[in-house]
Amino acid sequence: MDAAAARARPTGLSELDRVLGGGLVPGAVVLLAGEPGVGKSTLLLEASALATAGGRVLYVTGEESAAQVRLRADRIGAVSNSLYLAAETDFAAVLGHVQAVDPALLIVDSVQAISAADVDGVPGGVTQVREITAALTALAKQRTLTTVLVGHVTKDGSVAGPRTLEHLVDVVLHFEGDARGQLRMVRALKNRFGPTDEIGCFELGERGLAELPDPSGLFLSQRAEPEPGTCVTVTMEGRRPLVAEVQTLVCPVSTEPPRRVVSGLDYARVGMMVAVLQRRARLDIGKHDVFAATVGGVRLTEPSVDLAIGLAVASARAEVAVPADLVAIGEIGLAGEIRRVAGIPRRLAEAERMGFRRAVVPVGWGLQPGQAYPAESWAAGNATQLTVTEAADVRSAIAIALSRA
Ligand SMILES: Nc1ncnc2c1ncn2[C@@H]1O[C@H](COP(=O)(O)OP(=O)(O)OP(=O)(O)O)[C@@H](O)[C@H]1O
Ligand SMILES: [Mg+2]
Repeated sequence: MDAAAARARPTGLSELDRVLGGGLVPGAVVLLAGEPGVGKSTLLLEASALATAGGRVLYVTGEESAAQVRLRADRIGAVSNSLYLAAETDFAAVLGHVQAVDPALLIVDSVQAISAADVDGVPGGVTQVREITAALTALAKQRTLTTVLVGHVTKDGSVAGPRTLEHLVDVVLHFEGDARGQLRMVRALKNRFGPTDEIGCFELGERGLAELPDPSGLFLSQRAEPEPGTCVTVTMEGRRPLVAEVQTLVCPVSTEPPRRVVSGLDYARVGMMVAVLQRRARLDIGKHDVFAATVGGVRLTEPSVDLAIGLAVASARAEVAVPADLVAIGEIGLAGEIRRVAGIPRRLAEAERMGFRRAVVPVGWGLQPGQAYPAESWAAGNATQLTVTEAADVRSAIAIALSRA
């Protein structure tokens, strides 16, 4: 494994390399899955142009004309003499192009658009897609030809029937993002050559995808004064801590039953938080509509976001703002208790870096007795500017956060 990883070649897109575990390993087969229009072709065209530094790249497009792809390449500045385009849907013809070009990197956009005459089944169907992927995998191993396959995700979230392709390929990447927003994330669902807990962040604009090595600030609203109903948390996306804001509105019901409208957060968790707040913190919100959302199109679905949701809703109901320099981190149980979550020192270090000065965290969040925060700066003898307060349950966390101090 280590030997293979050592041979990984950087693509030139460091956010992509971070997810791949350094780059593309020669002969590896990567499946890039994503919903229509998320930007798969854009990402691979950019990566292809950069990859020409390491040899010829053959980009097979089965869905667009070569002219369309060339237009996109011009628009996003992905042009190179070593980038070969082929508009092809017939598998035998694709093999012919591979023979003729002898590329170091092959991109197939998409695997569903290619069909083989000697295989049963409709083009794009499970049988065809599986056979084509198996044949391309064999070719990749035989020629040590690094291959990236685009796969459209169907409604059930899989590329061609549940788990049909995942075990055939070496790496499965998922490209995701809110189609209305500009944020895009690449995440590894499987990686035979590296970790799967990293994400890569991009911003999709007219000139293509721009890398976002420091995405934290994007998920905060820019306000001079704190507003009731909002609370900031630090989520872990892979191994990367991200500071992000939860916004809520609580207003008297317009029509029964009360509405719960959620965007960017887990609907069930928000519902649970509302119930916990009613029963465990005696918050009077049974006859209120609750709206909850994130900022900047980020999805916060980790349990550690519970506390920020709870504080935001309590703040909205009380019409008292949570201090703008406070972050809240913790999972909340049905008894109202705040549970520990992983990675709190890293999250706090990120909050401090982003200028936050107060944090509410679960009791006993992992420090040794007498040890100050954060572990690294404590070791280095640095004073911290972050005041960390432990809260055992949601009720005391609300008291801390809304104390107007
Ligand atoms: N001319 C343009 N100017 C600005 N943005 C554009 C332009 N053309 C496309 N885009 C943006 O790029 C996005 C991604 O396009 P891309 O074709 O890379 O996605 P895709 O995932 O390959 O889609 P598909 O599933 O159709 O293959 C589009 O959704 C659109 O927002
Ligand atoms: Mg495409």
